[in-house]
Amino acid sequence: MWKIALVIFSACYSVQSARYLGLFPDAGGSHYILGFKLMRALADAGHDVTFVSSIKQKKPLVTKGNFTELILEDLHVDTSEGMVDTNIFEFMKESSITILGYASSILFKSSNDTMHHPKIKQLLNSNEKYDAVVMKHSHNDALKIFSAVFNCPVIILSDVGPNNLINSVVGNPNEISYIRHYNTPGNPEQPMTFLERRYNLILYMAEYLCAQYHTLPVHQRILESVINNPPEITDLYNNVSLVLLNSHTSIYTPQPLVPNMVEIGGYHIDPPKKLPQDLQHFLDDAKDGVIYFNMGSILQGKDMPEDRKKILVNVLGRLKQKVIWKFEEDLPGKPSNMLIKKWLPQQDILAHPNIRLFITHGGLLSIIETIYHGVPILAIPVFGDQPANAERAVYSGYALKLDYHGNDFTEKRLNSLIDELLNNPKYKDNAQRTSKLFHDRPMKPLDTAVYWMEYVVRNNGARHLRVGGINLPWYQYYLVDVALFVLVPLLIGLIVIVIYIKKLVKVIVNYRYRNENEKMRKKNY
Ligand SMILES: *[C@@H]1O[C@H](CO)[C@@H](O)[C@H](O)[C@H]1NC(C)=O
Ligand SMILES: *[C@@H]1O[C@H](CO)[C@@H](O)[C@H](O)[C@H]1NC(C)=O
Ligand SMILES: *[C@@H]1O[C@H](CO)[C@@H](O)[C@H](O)[C@H]1NC(C)=O
Repeated sequence: MWKIALVIFSACYSVQSARYLGLFPDAGGSHYILGFKLMRALADAGHDVTFVSSIKQKKPLVTKGNFTELILEDLHVDTSEGMVDTNIFEFMKESSITILGYASSILFKSSNDTMHHPKIKQLLNSNEKYDAVVMKHSHNDALKIFSAVFNCPVIILSDVGPNNLINSVVGNPNEISYIRHYNTPGNPEQPMTFLERRYNLILYMAEYLCAQYHTLPVHQRILESVINNPPEITDLYNNVSLVLLNSHTSIYTPQPLVPNMVEIGGYHIDPPKKLPQDLQHFLDDAKDGVIYFNMGSILQGKDMPEDRKKILVNVLGRLKQKVIWKFEEDLPGKPSNMLIKKWLPQQDILAHPNIRLFITHGGLLSIIETIYHGVPILAIPVFGDQPANAERAVYSGYALKLDYHGNDFTEKRLNSLIDELLNNPKYKDNAQRTSKLFHDRPMKPLDTAVYWMEYVVRNNGARHLRVGGINLPWYQYYLVDVALFVLVPLLIGLIVIVIYIKKLVKVIVNYRYRNENEKMRKKNY
């Protein structure tokens, strides 16, 4: 009987097949994977998905619904443009302002190229019907035009946890007094000092002003160059139904979330698959364990300057543990305990029980994957959010860090850090404790993501979840106008009183002066 009920129940839900448009046009590397996994899950749940990207899947997908790719050829974003003569590791030594300026100019260009792409123009003028648009968050607000064109809700995927840039899209509170700007390293458990809070406020304000008065106007101009009479970009900007956050409180600073912000960190991780034979043997045979070393897809091992490379090879080559290093070319003088490969199945390697330590740049995805499997970390942060991620991991007790640009990047220091991580059991214990917290949720993160994306469609954009704060200008949101209303009369009153007291004092002094003069005169007579 209950089986029939279950079938009827699931039929009621599964027939509600919807059409989703996934917009991930310029996403490469890990960003592509995040977008692809999300949209594929919708197709697996029986929906009709159109996935806009610039990378083609090698073979057609088998899914319960439909998964159609719309590939934007030649939308290749050359990230080395503007970095002439500089190596990526060296470039990242530049100030964060330089790096941010450089990154945003690439993102503007790619937004513009996307909007001008013939296939996107065709889609803009098509008679297609979609129930929701799903897109990532990264200086690409012009793409939100598809919500107005198809008259459907927008769902945003944020590659990182809650932060001031994504918060303002859905009116999530910016707790400037106790949450450090997401790129600022610091102990999340310790209150900020007065100077730190002041610095924090300046960062939040600078990014807010930059977004409002630079980024959005650029996107307005991009829209104007592709369609006639586009809506105001400010109306598109926060007309957002749901934000999916690629993070989880177990590895991120705890903070309040509005009802339409949902954490799905870890959703991209598949159950472990079989390793290629050579890797499987290498890992199985390592009786002292294996250190896995990968600096991600942007910071390639082959680009690493000689001095740093030499330190790493010398220290890792002397260990009794085996080492797997993602390295993209031949490594002359490769130590015998080391296996190098251009590409490595990171998640499946981290799942192997012989992995003792992960040496990483501290990118958020790498941290999520290592915590998923409970492996300790040596973080070598280079740029962006990596130093802050590394510091959070250190304070959570499952990592140590070595600043890539630091003066203490020496063989001695590297060796002592690795030694501590391998021989003090507390790092492994903390990694496993955090892993337990990471997995302790009511639903698997991918199921959570699908549930909420369906919820938005089922409930016509779920506009009842939107907080009122979205529509307030900052001076109303932070009650600056009310504070001024109270403070200004007080201040005026105070000034008036001060002026009167001054006058009074003058009168008294004058009076006494006169009296004294009078007395003097009388005496003299
Ligand atoms: C998938 O596409 C086919 C052909 O375009 C269509 O007939 C079918 O209804 C679609 N399936 C879903 C789940 O939308
Ligand atoms: C956007 O691209 C178009 C066509 O490629 C070009 O004409 C235009 O100048 C670009 N606009 C901006 C703001 O870069
Ligand atoms: C705002 O979102 C709703 C769906 O939630 C959509 O119907 C509408 O067209 C959007 N408006 C604009 C200006 O994008």
